[in-house]
Amino acid sequence: MEVDTRHADLGKSQFETPCPYLRDKLNTIQNHDPIVGSSAAGRATRVWRGEPDTEAFAAALAAAMRADPTLANVYIELHGDLGAGKTTLVRHLLRALGVAGRIKSPTYAVVEPHEAGDLAIWHFDFYRFDDPREWEDAGFRELFASTGLKIAEWPDKAAGHVPTADLAIRIQAMTDDTRTVRLDAPTDAGRSLLLALTAGPTA
Ligand SMILES: Nc1ncnc2c1ncn2[C@@H]1O[C@H](COP(=O)(O)OP(=O)(O)O)[C@@H](O)[C@H]1O
Ligand SMILES: [Mg+2]
Repeated sequence: MEVDTRHADLGKSQFETPCPYLRDKLNTIQNHDPIVGSSAAGRATRVWRGEPDTEAFAAALAAAMRADPTLANVYIELHGDLGAGKTTLVRHLLRALGVAGRIKSPTYAVVEPHEAGDLAIWHFDFYRFDDPREWEDAGFRELFASTGLKIAEWPDKAAGHVPTADLAIRIQAMTDDTRTVRLDAPTDAGRSLLLALTAGPTA
């Protein structure tokens, strides 16, 4: 079952109106009941009502990766308009994985490398990627073939180069703080990650 909040008139006023019953109900519908079933099929939806929810999701993702390091050797795509919260999610994920220091957005460099313990992480932002030769010249093919976590914002701008994502996260801003999120996991690794996520209490 999937709840499409775009058509559900979940405007700001409704979220800010104290209505615990409805809110709990929505939580149940969107964050618990159907997810276990649908994550087996590699799909799930989420509602993040503020950045703390986004941070909690990132923490759960990091916990799943720490519990099973093979789940950190994946490629994650982040889709969504400017300001949707892609970089924000990556920053929370990198922090939760243990990356220290300043986490720069890779918009100008296209890729920023990071390390968390043994885990190599590459954070791509293909927003300004427009020269296919750059794919080879910059060594992106090797990076994608390497062991480690690859995360990409604006992967559509590098279509034809990037591999199939293990986990595609589509973020849509509903209000200043609220985001609806679709998770698609077409590969075995992605499905395992999604299952590990949905087995946890918070994500
Ligand atoms: N629930 C939320 N999740 C993520 N970001 C949020 C949320 N609510 C508000 N924001 C704000 O939205 C902005 C998202 O910006 P950013 O992560 O740079 O977007 P993108 O990388 O998708 O262009 C940030 O200022 C962040 O603080
Ligand atoms: Mg960004």
